[in-house]
Amino acid sequence: MTAAQILVVDDNRELAENVCELLEAIEDRHVACAHANDAKGALEQVSTLGDRIDLAFVDLRLPDSDGIHLLRELKALRPALPVILMTGHATVESAAAAVDNGAFALVLKPFRSSEFMLIARRALDQVAQRRERQELVERLEQSERRHRDVVEAIPALVLGLDERDDITIYNRPLELLSGFAREEMIGKPGRELIGKRGGVRRLATKDGGHRIIRWECRELEGPRGSHTTYAMGIDVTDEREMMRRTLRAERLAAVGTLAAGLAHEVRNPLNSASLQLQVLKRRLAKGQIDPAVAAADLVLGEIQRLDNLVNDFLAFAKPQPLRTKQTDPNHLVQGVFELIRPEADAKGVRLDLDLGDPVEPVDVEEERMRQVLLNLARNAIEAVAPEKCVIVRTRGADVSGDIRIEVEDDGPGFPEDAPIFDAFYTTKEHGTGLGLAIAHRIVTDHGGSLAVSSRPGCTLFSVTLPQHTEDQD
Ligand SMILES: Nc1ncnc2c1ncn2[C@@H]1O[C@H](COP(=O)(O)OP(=O)(O)OP(=O)(O)O)[C@@H](O)[C@H]1O
Ligand SMILES: [Mg+2]
Repeated sequence: MTAAQILVVDDNRELAENVCELLEAIEDRHVACAHANDAKGALEQVSTLGDRIDLAFVDLRLPDSDGIHLLRELKALRPALPVILMTGHATVESAAAAVDNGAFALVLKPFRSSEFMLIARRALDQVAQRRERQELVERLEQSERRHRDVVEAIPALVLGLDERDDITIYNRPLELLSGFAREEMIGKPGRELIGKRGGVRRLATKDGGHRIIRWECRELEGPRGSHTTYAMGIDVTDEREMMRRTLRAERLAAVGTLAAGLAHEVRNPLNSASLQLQVLKRRLAKGQIDPAVAAADLVLGEIQRLDNLVNDFLAFAKPQPLRTKQTDPNHLVQGVFELIRPEADAKGVRLDLDLGDPVEPVDVEEERMRQVLLNLARNAIEAVAPEKCVIVRTRGADVSGDIRIEVEDDGPGFPEDAPIFDAFYTTKEHGTGLGLAIAHRIVTDHGGSLAVSSRPGCTLFSVTLPQHTEDQD
């Protein structure tokens, strides 16, 4: 503990020393005394030592002034300094003047030691309390400064709102980005800036522009149920712009790939149709009617192929809105099974049906879901050798409430890195490579997913669909 600094002002040196001795003898107190002969010396000491003087004893009668006058001057310099006046002959006037000018006490000479000690103790207690308070204030200020420094140094935007949603914190990065000074913003309504629960918001800037900010918010409960909000924001304007540009570039690249694939697919039937037209022309010139009709049929066939291709392409690239209804998956699968059976029979492939019981209804557009299952089943039949097996299976709701429809075959499968869901990827001579791309698109449009696992001897396509619930109607 640092000693309390006491200034004793008295031209009687002996008495001053006496006072110091008494003060130094007080138990549990650490004091250090300084002495001044007159008012001038006292004021000099207070000006040089400043805050370090904690308590002053002043004689009422001084060679160059009087104690009341010095008291006033000391109070002007240090309003909180406790000053104890000492006098040999107290009058009512001097006592009143002492009180009026804020003296801590007036003690009579010669001192009665017990009385003197009591007053001195009280004054020293006050000094100790004031010091403690001052230390607390300093620590508080320091801690506040540290917090403020952190808020300012964070390379993010920091905004604080009080319970009325008025701005209480507006940090430097936020000032720099928005162009609005803290003084302009403190106390203004701030909820608009960050929204109800944060998220991505536009921040208007002083120059009339705006930035895109991603805000994270925290509500803190304060005293008496009040709420304050702290929000931290990151400027994502550039990131978003870059993402948009990348997406645009990717979309352009995808359109390019699709166009190239489509052109390639269109060229085959066009070539074949134009060859057949030349044949047709020759045969007509020679008057060979029947062979000419056969060539015309081939041209019609190629035109039909082109028409199918364009329809398939549109189904993939520009799907129409879904017209769903509650559908029994088992019923749907049975229909597909009947449709595909002749193709399996023609190739000598065994086609099995494995229906789950029960299988809950799903909300789908029947025609499109039939197309998905047809594409999968047809691929399986095309993949396997004669005598091999294709199974179409349904399964009721799993723990997440999803329904599954599976198509499994024991054919050769495909390599892990084959881009089977890419439009126009095909390993077949007459395939378009659109079947799986369309199937994937339709299933995801229904809110489901199409997964696959493949190894030689077992390829399994699995369609997962969310179960139909009554409140979807
Ligand atoms: N069950 C399967 N077993 C092995 N490979 C498969 C299977 N299903 C699909 N594939 C592979 O995925 C490719 C893409 O299939 P997709 O249905 O999209 O087009 P495609 O069948 O080639 O042509 P299209 O469907 O127009 O007749 C196929 O060419 C084949 O290589
Ligand atoms: Mg196919």
